[in-house]
Amino acid sequence: MHFEKLPVNPKAARINDRLEAVANAAVRALDRGRARLGLRGRAADYDDERYEFVGGARDELRRKHYDKSLRLLWKAEAALPWSTFRDLGEAERGLRDMADRGMNDADRAVRERITSKDFRAGLDREYTVAQKKAIVAILAAIGHGEAYAWMVSATLLGEVKSTGARAALTMQVLEEAKHFVVLRELVEAFGVPVPRQSAWEYLLLEGALKARGLDKFYGMNVLVETIALSIFGLLASMPGLDVLQRFHLDESRHTALPVNYFKEFPLPESARRSRLGAARRIAMTLPTLPLVMCLEPELAELGIDAFDFAGSVMRKVGTLSLRAGFLDERSARGQAEFFNAVFNAYCKATRRSHAWKDFMSADTTRGVEVEAVEREIFGCDHPAAADARPS
Ligand SMILES: [Fe+2]
Ligand SMILES: [Fe+2]
Repeated sequence: MHFEKLPVNPKAARINDRLEAVANAAVRALDRGRARLGLRGRAADYDDERYEFVGGARDELRRKHYDKSLRLLWKAEAALPWSTFRDLGEAERGLRDMADRGMNDADRAVRERITSKDFRAGLDREYTVAQKKAIVAILAAIGHGEAYAWMVSATLLGEVKSTGARAALTMQVLEEAKHFVVLRELVEAFGVPVPRQSAWEYLLLEGALKARGLDKFYGMNVLVETIALSIFGLLASMPGLDVLQRFHLDESRHTALPVNYFKEFPLPESARRSRLGAARRIAMTLPTLPLVMCLEPELAELGIDAFDFAGSVMRKVGTLSLRAGFLDERSARGQAEFFNAVFNAYCKATRRSHAWKDFMSADTTRGVEVEAVEREIFGCDHPAAADARPS
């Protein structure tokens, strides 16, 4: 490559280099000194000399979360052609048009139906008003959760170490933003009033946002996102809601993030052993008890037992808590037993002829794809579930 090199004053360049060296030593020494005195030193958790964030590259985290998120990135325009989203690139639109040309008449008719404005009419045909209200109440609960997931993941971005973890969290921020705006449009398509957060959702989500440091990983990625995952797994096979499979797959990555992060940066032994820490985390789960009681009529409208749903959520929360080190075996077992006992006591008080049931072994996820995703994450759940029956 040929460039017409321009003349530079060599003395000025030398002076600039020296000035920079002095200024560099001074600003860094000043920030180090301030940090040692407990004052605010360098604001960025960034190691420019190594060209990495503090904590190193951690490429495994990047591969498992950032690379995978981009591989599985989905666009609202393709998944919900009837929506207002126009997020397909030219190449993606070209591919879709080519696929359209290859369709037979029956397939094209289905596609034309979903791209037309009668998506809402399709929902009206599929569901009664009571069923639409029930679906909206359940989806809105997690829709408000998506707003908080967006806020919490953006906050966590400043709490994690390493380039890999930041790349992973950045993808989560992007995915939560997409979940919030896309889910809002899907919920509004049902054409029934969207409920506000219940007091219990408010407490649960504010608890996750206000949690200290990496406890946010527990409140959001383990607890709230397992609820989200389970709601999407429950509804994704229902007519008009197949896009929730995409949400479900994204949430499965988000729930796995704390476990993968703590493999690289384990929770300190003191935090793992702290009874107070475990009690604080278990306390964060408590609003789910009245929350599930409030959602019982809506879930029942769709033929789902609220406590089967809640039991399956809490079993998954227990598995992830144990793997990440947020709870030890004893605390996880205690949590499962406590929830199972409360669910059974409530059912005994409110249902005719209720017989004791191990709600922790229930599962309400429906559909081949979503079931396969959950099998991959949870395998054969932790033993606390099997032993949750009171003696
Ligand atoms: Fe989400
Ligand atoms: Fe998420």
